[in-house]
Amino acid sequence: MCGIIGGICRNNITPILIDGLKKLEYRGYDSAGIIVLTKNNKFNRSRSVGKINNLEQKIKNKKTTFESKIGIAHNRWATHGEPSNRNAHPHICNNVISVVHNGIIENFAKLKAKQKKKGYKFTSDTDTEVIVHEIHEYLQSEKNLVKAVQKAVKNFEGSYGIGVISNQYPNQVVAVKNNSPLIIGIGKDGNFIASDQMALINVTKKFIYLKDGDIANIGIDSISIFDKNCNPIKRQTKISKLKSGQISLGNYKHYMQKEIFEQPQAIQDTLESRITKKSVLASAFGYQAEKIFSKIKHIQIIACGTSYNAGLVAKYWLEGIAKISTNVEVASEYRYRNPIIFDDTLFIFISQSGETADTLAAIKTVKKLDKKIYTLSICNCAESSLTRESKLTFLTHAGPEIGVASTKAFTTQLASLALLTVVIGKCHNKISKQQEAKIVDGLNKLPGLISKTLKQEEQIKQLAKTFKNKFNAIFIGRGSMHAIAMEGALKLKEISYIHAEAYPAGELKHGPIALIDKDTPVIAIAPKNDLLDKLKSNLQEVKSRGSKMIVFEDEKSQITKMQNMTIIPTTTNLGVITAPIIFTIPLQLLSYHVALIKKTNVDQPRNLAKSVTVE
Ligand code: M6R
Repeated sequence: MCGIIGGICRNNITPILIDGLKKLEYRGYDSAGIIVLTKNNKFNRSRSVGKINNLEQKIKNKKTTFESKIGIAHNRWATHGEPSNRNAHPHICNNVISVVHNGIIENFAKLKAKQKKKGYKFTSDTDTEVIVHEIHEYLQSEKNLVKAVQKAVKNFEGSYGIGVISNQYPNQVVAVKNNSPLIIGIGKDGNFIASDQMALINVTKKFIYLKDGDIANIGIDSISIFDKNCNPIKRQTKISKLKSGQISLGNYKHYMQKEIFEQPQAIQDTLESRITKKSVLASAFGYQAEKIFSKIKHIQIIACGTSYNAGLVAKYWLEGIAKISTNVEVASEYRYRNPIIFDDTLFIFISQSGETADTLAAIKTVKKLDKKIYTLSICNCAESSLTRESKLTFLTHAGPEIGVASTKAFTTQLASLALLTVVIGKCHNKISKQQEAKIVDGLNKLPGLISKTLKQEEQIKQLAKTFKNKFNAIFIGRGSMHAIAMEGALKLKEISYIHAEAYPAGELKHGPIALIDKDTPVIAIAPKNDLLDKLKSNLQEVKSRGSKMIVFEDEKSQITKMQNMTIIPTTTNLGVITAPIIFTIPLQLLSYHVALIKKTNVDQPRNLAKSVTVE
C-alpha cells in the first residue's frame, strides 16, 4: 500500500507534495516523509509518525528551508518494520541517492546480506532500504541515473512503484513501476509522479499511466520512458475526468458519510445509458460481450473484502436467475491453489480500486492458463491495472471513494452485477422479457428507494448508542442476505473495532449460538421472501438466549415484536435484486454511527489502507 509522489517544477514543489500526500492518505497513514534538494544540492529530509499534518507541522518548525523545485514524498502503511521515524521514507544512501517506494521487495533479506558485506550501512528495518543501496552501487559504474535504476531493479523480486532523486543529477526524477500503481502527471510548470491521479489533480489533468516494467526519466520540460532494457518506448497521454471538487468533503463530517449519501447518484450514474425503461443493453459490457456471454458455461468470481461480498450476492442472482453455475472466492486464496478450471469459464474480477494486489495476481494467473477462458472486470477506476488486464470491463460510476470503508462502491457493484445477470440470462434464454422488465423497473427505482432509506439515519443513530459498551455483535440473514450480513459485519469491525461475525441464520444452531448472550447484539435482515418463516424461527432461538435483537425488516414481513427486540421497517415489497442493495444502507449507517460513538477514526481506521497493493 503506501502512497508516493514526486516531481520537478519551476515553482516550490513542497506544497504540491504535501497536498498530494494528503490526497494519498487513504493508501496509508502510519507515517510520512519528504525530501527535497536545496539550492546548493543538499538533501533536506523530514519524517514523522502519524498523519500528514504532523509532517506539515514539522516542516514549518524546521530551521532549514524546504523551498525547492525537486523532491519526493511518501505515506507509509507499515509492512517491514514498525511505524517510526527511522522506518519512514524517503530513504537515503551515502547522501547521494534518495528513494520512496510503494510495494514489497520480497528478496530484500538476500540483497541486504550482500549489501552489508559490501559495507552499506542500514538505518531502518524496511525492505525499501535495499533499493537505495542497490541503485547507489550501480551508479558508481554507470554514471547515469536511469541506467543505474534500470540495472538495480533487475535484481528486485516483488512489487514496486519507486521514485528516485540524486543530488548528483539535480534536474531529474526517475520512476519505475512493477505491480504497483504509478502515473506521471504532465503539468504546465513541471512534471510529476504519483501513486494515483487524485494526488495531482490540483496540478494537472494530463496523465500517462505507466505499465509494468516502465522506467521514466522526468525533467521540468521533458519525459522519456524506457522499457526494462532501457529501449525508449511511447505511452499515451490521457486527460482525466476527475474534478478536484469530487474529492472534497463538502458539508459532511467524514468521507464515509458523504459516500453513503452519494449512493442514489452513484447508482443512477452507474445505470445511465446502460438500461432503458424495460431492458438492459448488452453492449454496456463491450461490443464482444454478447458473443462471449453466449459461449460461457461457468462463472468464477474473484475479489477481496467488500468486493468479495458483492460477488457472494451475485452468485445467488447468476445461479438463481441466469441459471449458470457460479463460484466465488477471495483472491488471496484463489491465486495460490490449483483449482479445477473448465473451458468456457467467465472470470469476473470485482474491485473498487483495480489495484488490489491479490486480485491483480489472480487475473494474471488465470490469463496464463492454457484454457478457453474469458475475463471481465467490474471496477470503479477506469485507468487501473485491473481494467488494463481484462478483456471486458464494466465501470461502476461511483466516483472517487476515499473512506477506507467501502460503501458506494459496494452498492454500485451490486447494481452492475444485476445488469450482468440480466445480460447473461438473456444470452442463455433464461430470462423472459417480462422478467427483465421487472428487474429493470426495480433498478430504475433504486435511487429513490435509497434516498428514502437514508432518511432513517436519525433512528439508526439512536440505535447506535446501544453499542457504546459492546465488544461483539452477530449479523444474520438467509439467502443473499447472508452476504449482506457479511458486509454489515465487515463494516462494523473495520471502523468501530467491534468483533462482528456474520452467519447464515440457519447455521447459528450448529455452533455460533453458543456466543450469544445479553452483551452480544444480534442484527437480523428480514426481507419478505420464501425464507422469512425460517428466519422468524431463528429469531426465536436467539430470543431464548437473552440477546438484544435488531431487525431490519420489510414492512410486509410483520415480525412479531419480542422482548429485547428493536424492529426497523426498512422498506417494502422488494424483489430479489433490489432487496440486498436497499438492506445494505441501514447497515452502513449503523456502523458509521457506532464508530462515531466509539470515537474511532472513521475514514482511516487503524491498521488499514484503502488500496491493498501488497500481498
Ligand atoms: O479496491 P478493492 O475493491 O479491490 O478492495 C478490496 C478490499 O480491500 C476492500 O473492499 C476492503 O475490504 C474495504 N476496506 C472494506 O470496506
